[in-house]
Amino acid sequence: MKLVLAPIAGFTNAAFRLMATHGGADLTYTEMVSAAGLAHGSSPTRHLMEVLPGEGPVACQLFGSKPDELAFSAREVAALGRFVEINLNAGCPVPRIVKEGSGSALVKNPQLVHDLLAAMVAEANGVPVTLKTRPGSRPDKVLMLELLDAAETAGAKGIAMHARFTSQNHGGEVHLDLLSELVQKAKIPVIGNGGVVDSETLRAMADTGVSAVMLGRGALPDPYIFAKLKGVEFEALSPERLFRKNLDALIALHGQIAERFPADRLPTLDFWTAGAVRTHLFRYFAGRPGAGEFRRRLMSLRTLDEIIAAIPSQR
Ligand SMILES: Cc1cc2nc3c(=O)[nH]c(=O)nc-3n(C[C@H](O)[C@H](O)[C@H](O)COP(=O)(O)O)c2cc1C
Repeated sequence: MKLVLAPIAGFTNAAFRLMATHGGADLTYTEMVSAAGLAHGSSPTRHLMEVLPGEGPVACQLFGSKPDELAFSAREVAALGRFVEINLNAGCPVPRIVKEGSGSALVKNPQLVHDLLAAMVAEANGVPVTLKTRPGSRPDKVLMLELLDAAETAGAKGIAMHARFTSQNHGGEVHLDLLSELVQKAKIPVIGNGGVVDSETLRAMADTGVSAVMLGRGALPDPYIFAKLKGVEFEALSPERLFRKNLDALIALHGQIAERFPADRLPTLDFWTAGAVRTHLFRYFAGRPGAGEFRRRLMSLRTLDEIIAAIPSQR
């Protein structure tokens, strides 16, 4: 079973994706990238599309609600030549995104999903275009078959379904029965997503017949979860080494963005890494004795030197 890393805004930057590649992910996704941002020339939006040397296959995820902006963005993503797939986000429930008609607003509008995908396919220069969506906005408003039809008739090459309704946000029951139904009806590959954290939840999702399984939050504390779930050999790294490896990748990413976008005002390396450590990297120590204490210490650190000095000995 192919296992892929989900797009997670604020987390699946190139540094973390590199970790997931080392950890056995077959495919990873960028954080969601604003089509309006690209179409209006936003440079920080383009920082999200950086890829680090050593990364495996990466898909670029776009969000938006205007066919012309998605067409422009698909053309730009394809021209970069770094991405194996261009994905449309039709599932994000964040109010700011929904208000502009993007993300999960699209779950209610299969016709617009069709038009956005068709616009992307026309400009993607052969790079496969896919959809990531949900079964519907709420249990009494299931529209997944209409969304599937929109994807297939627009020429999309796959559909990833987070098997929870928009009304559930990111929690609660994962509707595997709906995923099975989607698989039975689909002519394009279906990727299943939602709540996979161990071999039991993976098996339940694989039993729906999906072509691949997408993991989100299950991978954040342990990018090696992909290899573990596949039962393949991997070099187990201690939390200290995982932390250091991710930190080094972040430093490389910061340098790469600074080099590629010399006119942009970037956060300092200290600010950038301290932020990432506070929001993300402490997770590698979750469940370890003293994890809470270490997290509290990390929260107070402001510079890269302080962070490096604070990492427990790296075995
Ligand atoms: C903090 C956070 C950020 C997310 N960002 C995105 C995103 O940028 N694009 C997207 O399609 N889904 C996003 N998602 C949804 C995940 O990709 C995934 O569908 C969801 O977490 C369910 O999978 P899981 O149960 O394995 O975590 C996000 C989820 C979380 C919790």
